[in-house]
Amino acid sequence: MEQVNNTNNTNKNIIDNNNIQKTRSAKAFKFNPFDKEFHVNPYPTYYRLRSEDPVHRYFVGGDWVLGRYADVKAVLRSGRVRTHDQPELIQQKNLYLQGKGKNLNVLAYTSNKLLFYMNPPDHSRLRSLVVKAFSPTVVERMRPRIQEIVNDLLGPIHNKGTMDIIADLAGPLPVTVISKMLGIPNEAQDQLHQWSNVFSRILDSLVSLEEYEVINKVIEDFQEYLRNLVAEREKDPQQDLISDLIAAREQGERLSQEELLATCILLFMTGEETTVNTIGNGMLALLSHPEQMETLKREPTMIQNAVEEILRYDSPVQMTNRIAIDNIEIGNQTIKTGEKIILCLGSANRDPAQFPDPDQFNINRCQDNHLAFGDGIHSCLGSALARAQAQIAINTLVQQFPDLKLVPDKLEWRKNIALRGLKTLPVTFTCR
Ligand code: HEM
Repeated sequence: MEQVNNTNNTNKNIIDNNNIQKTRSAKAFKFNPFDKEFHVNPYPTYYRLRSEDPVHRYFVGGDWVLGRYADVKAVLRSGRVRTHDQPELIQQKNLYLQGKGKNLNVLAYTSNKLLFYMNPPDHSRLRSLVVKAFSPTVVERMRPRIQEIVNDLLGPIHNKGTMDIIADLAGPLPVTVISKMLGIPNEAQDQLHQWSNVFSRILDSLVSLEEYEVINKVIEDFQEYLRNLVAEREKDPQQDLISDLIAAREQGERLSQEELLATCILLFMTGEETTVNTIGNGMLALLSHPEQMETLKREPTMIQNAVEEILRYDSPVQMTNRIAIDNIEIGNQTIKTGEKIILCLGSANRDPAQFPDPDQFNINRCQDNHLAFGDGIHSCLGSALARAQAQIAINTLVQQFPDLKLVPDKLEWRKNIALRGLKTLPVTFTCR
């Protein structure tokens, strides 16, 4: 298996697809998402998970790990699971710290109000209030604005001959777009971006107590900023999502102030790194498969297919979790009430039982039934917005910079297990 930073072969640097199956070894399969090789390229591990032990028990803590498409989809859609217990884990840490004269009070309270950790009926109530703002019709109307933002970001780069696709385009785009939707003033965007990056660490499983204390402080600051903005919008409503949420609250739709603040923070966080990773992983896949890049250059209308294939091939969200609230039979195993389940979306999207020739990146594949946005009641609220941003950003790059070339020895993946994305994606091109 090749590593990402193999400088000798620029064109196959995500994965040597032909070798995925040959990595099977005689040793019993052990799922270890903290393994360095898994971090660079998780797909050989997923291959072994699906083919050797598809209903696997994680050696740390005994959580279940599922990697087959049908199993992952069935659990996501099942009424026999609830969301991960991250808010409860944070509360346990909070109680421990309180014993030492410290606390995580604000973080513990806020994490309880985050949509993706909520369960029905609270989840259904809160989701129904936000869902309208992200409907495909609303997003369609935003396309010209998204294109403008992309053009503004790329404009000054044309005569430079080099860019970092992450820092110059993929990073700033989603922050700008979600800020516009929420009605965050331009001058506050950088600060909120930084806070959101710190806060997104709660999605990871390896967070120290000291780091939790930092996150707690950041959430205090984030909330205070938003509380002031909400007060301004109460006096002077604008055409933005914060004003819409205030209106919903005032029309008695049972939205508390804390839920309103937590929802704004959540939208900032969930819409950001995932979209950055889609653009980054997608451009890396295209640059590593020149024939696919040529097809898209020739036929820009294929962008919708291309983005679906990018989401399937190198999914920005690789894993999510659930907890069984009833016994669940899968394969020959019984997952018992209270047991945790790790759902490998990245593996489900490479399952040959669902996607023929799954390790091939092929933008002609007309299948949008991947699980990159999850499924069931928690499926991605921002999928239409994410798709629009990725389609516009990638197509503009491909059309405006027709000879992009990867600088391969600079590639490094972000330290995150659930989210897969590059820290930087440096490219060169001919100046216009
Ligand atoms: C390509 C980019 C994106 C990907 C791959 C992605 C992926 C996902 C996935 C897999 C889930 C389900 C998690 C689970 O079931 O545990 C999810 C949920 C969610 N996503 Fe996205 N997302 C993206 C962009 C966005 C954007 C742009 C927004 C909004 C600004 C957003 C907002 C949300 C929210 C609010 C949830 C929680 C929904 C709920 O619990 O009901 N996402 N996303």
